[in-house]
Amino acid sequence: MTLEAIRYSRGSLQILDQLLLPQQSHYEAVGSVRQAWEVIHAMKVRGTLAISLVGCLSLAVGPGLAALVAFVRDKLSFLVTTRPTAVNMAHAAHDLADAAAQEAEREDDTEEAVRERVIRCTEDMLEKDLRDNWSIGDLGARHLLDWVAPNGSKVTVLTHCNTGALATAGYGTALGVIQSLHSLGRLEHAFCTKTRPYNQGALLTAFELVYEQIPATLIADGLVAAAMAHRGVSAVIVGADHVVAKGDTANKVGTYQLAIVAKHHGIPFYLAAPSSSCDLRLETSKEIIIEEHPSQELTDVNGVRIAVPRIGVWNPAFDVTPHDLITGGIITELGVFAPEELRAALTTTISSKDGT
Ligand code: MRU
Repeated sequence: MTLEAIRYSRGSLQILDQLLLPQQSHYEAVGSVRQAWEVIHAMKVRGTLAISLVGCLSLAVGPGLAALVAFVRDKLSFLVTTRPTAVNMAHAAHDLADAAAQEAEREDDTEEAVRERVIRCTEDMLEKDLRDNWSIGDLGARHLLDWVAPNGSKVTVLTHCNTGALATAGYGTALGVIQSLHSLGRLEHAFCTKTRPYNQGALLTAFELVYEQIPATLIADGLVAAAMAHRGVSAVIVGADHVVAKGDTANKVGTYQLAIVAKHHGIPFYLAAPSSSCDLRLETSKEIIIEEHPSQELTDVNGVRIAVPRIGVWNPAFDVTPHDLITGGIITELGVFAPEELRAALTTTISSKDGT
């Protein structure tokens, strides 16, 4: 059985409560946009792709709609506020609101037709995410093997945070590449970081790796340099929450230092993310809103305060990796690109698909 972060059928949406993993597997029903906001805000579902899908799908299971177009626009803007660094939610919200508005402009439009269009659009997003992740896995694995193991040997890969089935509609992005390497029989070993302070690596990635029977080891975030120096790491591969035109990328805090350490050791550093995580309107990362998390994530362990009172805390959930540290490439469903190729590659591919 494959791991599913989201279970959806017409009229029914459920999410796997990731706060209970790996001890318990419990699906929670989401019946409204408010509930979607709450489960995303509480991090019961997380990962930029999974949260954008849950946000949009919650519209498809919500109560009867009066002014549907305004409803879609308002509710989606509301959902965007809960995880502002994750650009996929903003992109999905924009696409969906446009689809609703276009449908509503048709002369013989009915509320039911608009609603149907919104539902179909969100269902397409779910299917596309899964297809894209398979492509990312395949393209990324082939690129990585050509680069670091052209002699046919096996590779050892290090990853950070959680980018697998639990963070997407299925298969995953960076973790999908690791799965593809494993399926090809070319993965020697995977290392995953604990991912302090929220522990997505220990709680979720370790769980997925064991579930998929991939040979893997969990390490402390502070051990990545030693792992690169002494454990034969061939490549580092991580996900992305927001990639700007130049290739600078916001991802889980700790990604930036991982990229610096990889460069120091001459190890290729890859990002894996669908083109919907790329934001060509932003030239530099200065405009990315970086989400701040509560100070208790650092001062408390299991609800017990361990840090001295009055100590200041800075706890952003994401950091930005400059494009020149992304030495392996950016793996998308459209191809693997060097950061400086990204803008031209996405513009050409997307406009040739549109027929423009
Ligand atoms: O705070 P999270 O757990 O939502 O952060 C997740 C990440 O940083 C992932 O790398 C990113 O969202 C890509 S998931 C396909």
